Amino acid sequence: MEREIFNFFTTLVEKVSGISYQAGKEYLLENRLNELALSLGYKGIKDFYEAVRKNLTPRLLNQIIDTLTTNETYFFRDQHPFEALKKHIFPELFKKREQEKRIDIWSSACSTGQEPYSIAMLLKEYFSAYLTQYKVNIYATDISESAIKKAKEGIYNQIEVNRGLPITFLVKYFKQEGGNWRIDESLKGMVRFEILNLLDVPKKVKDKFDLILCRYVLIYFNKEVKKNVFLALWKCLKSGGYLLLGATELPPITPPDMEKKILGNTTVFYKK
Ligand SMILES: C[S@@+](CC[C@H](N)C(=O)[O-])C[C@H]1O[C@@H](n2cnc3c(N)ncnc32)[C@H](O)[C@@H]1O
Repeated sequence: MEREIFNFFTTLVEKVSGISYQAGKEYLLENRLNELALSLGYKGIKDFYEAVRKNLTPRLLNQIIDTLTTNETYFFRDQHPFEALKKHIFPELFKKREQEKRIDIWSSACSTGQEPYSIAMLLKEYFSAYLTQYKVNIYATDISESAIKKAKEGIYNQIEVNRGLPITFLVKYFKQEGGNWRIDESLKGMVRFEILNLLDVPKKVKDKFDLILCRYVLIYFNKEVKKNVFLALWKCLKSGGYLLLGATELPPITPPDMEKKILGNTTVFYKK
């Protein structure tokens, strides 16, 4: 791919979403854009580039962002954080919020829904008594329109349900439909999905949360964006709440009211 085209698309995607395609990732960008260009009826990337430069419609921009995001996810990803939620965090939060009888959870880069649905299943399975007394809101957002569409549908293929989902949960919380599995309506009803760009958090999210998951998304951002997004999320966390990153991720900055806690095999970030 010509340098000019690579620079054009990397600048565009970084400005809009924060995702940084560094040099060396040309092949990935090229493959993804090529596929999109052909699916839209263009001859190739060059053709597509000319069209985008002439008239970048919001629809086209969405399709480009959609194509250039990595939506890799699976149920109960990394397992340990869900153990920490089950054994430590949820028992503590239910106790702490005894007066308000309300818990607010945010899966802030939820991809196709496996992360928030894993939380919904965990709550239903182990905290059902609380669910009848407390209002538990699970807010789940992602920049990718197609990922949110799939998450809202809640239909997964055999390969997707084979990844991380215990068989007992599959049988209990999904219905088979041909070769696919549809998640139970009661779980769907626990989650509110929305398209949201993490760069827009300061101006769009006014709510405060007891638990925020921001897993495997900061890794795609440059240093500056990483810091800004992290701080914006930290601001949305209630005092006494927890923020979870991916297992291999570290906070890009240490706010003074942050305490690192090790719960079993997982590290979490607690707001004092
Ligand atoms: C690798 S997935 C991680 C999904 C899930 N958190 C997990 O750990 O399994 C990263 C997600 O971040 C989303 N993403 C990337 N940039 C974003 C942005 N600026 N705002 C919101 N979501 C973004 C992508 O669309 C993708 O679905």
